[in-house]
Amino acid sequence: MITFKYQDTTLAYERLGRGAPLVLIHGFPLDHSIWDEVTPLLSSTFDLILPDLRGFGESVSSAPAWTMRDLADDLAALLDHLGLESAFLAGHSMGGYVTLAFADAYPQRVRGLALVSSQAAADAPEKRSARHAQARQIAEDGIGEMVAAMTEKLSTDERVRKFVHELMRKQKPAGYIGSLKAMAERADTLSVLEKNLFPVLVVHGGADGLIPFQREIQAKVPRARVTEIAGAGHMPMMESPREVAEALRGLK
Ligand code: MLT
Repeated sequence: MITFKYQDTTLAYERLGRGAPLVLIHGFPLDHSIWDEVTPLLSSTFDLILPDLRGFGESVSSAPAWTMRDLADDLAALLDHLGLESAFLAGHSMGGYVTLAFADAYPQRVRGLALVSSQAAADAPEKRSARHAQARQIAEDGIGEMVAAMTEKLSTDERVRKFVHELMRKQKPAGYIGSLKAMAERADTLSVLEKNLFPVLVVHGGADGLIPFQREIQAKVPRARVTEIAGAGHMPMMESPREVAEALRGLK
């Protein structure tokens, strides 16, 4: 991977393909490799940029905590580093939260935005407290419990489960803790989609066990184009890569 320094963080990314820039942003607690089955299908349409979010994969930060805005600023620094004024963005789950925070802070830099297995809603108070409790538990006991609980929810496909289980086991506790706190404190971002006019895509597995498909965006953002992938769980880019690639091509 290619790395560069931004403030107290070393950010790593992959880049491949030709065309309009599309940043593919992974979810929690994973890294850019979740997109590996989709990238060959999109590389003749897009200049694909695949960051590891800070705390995951090869991106390391010495900061003890961060916010969605910090993660959005990391993306802005990545675009600056690449000399790109704007790009299409597709975010998976927590990556969707980052994408929305980026669109809130830098709307003029967004050519179009896709939410894959994600949502614009903030956490309910109980969920917020649960995330802070999980962060404390990981600081004390490590990531084992969380990895086991999440593996169950991400997919029913054994191959995908095995892949994400290994990937989650490789991630550092600091990445889990920083991201849990950032997710807990994130704002509701539906208004970001309502007030800006860039194209919006929603791609969601019909059998997502982690974030059930929410009709809120469809109802409040009529220009949003929705692709629901029947049978796919929370990892549609691995469970149904062709359908996800086809949907993302619609960004252009
Ligand atoms: C993710 O898959 O990125 C996260 O689990 C999303 C969340 O917990 O809200």
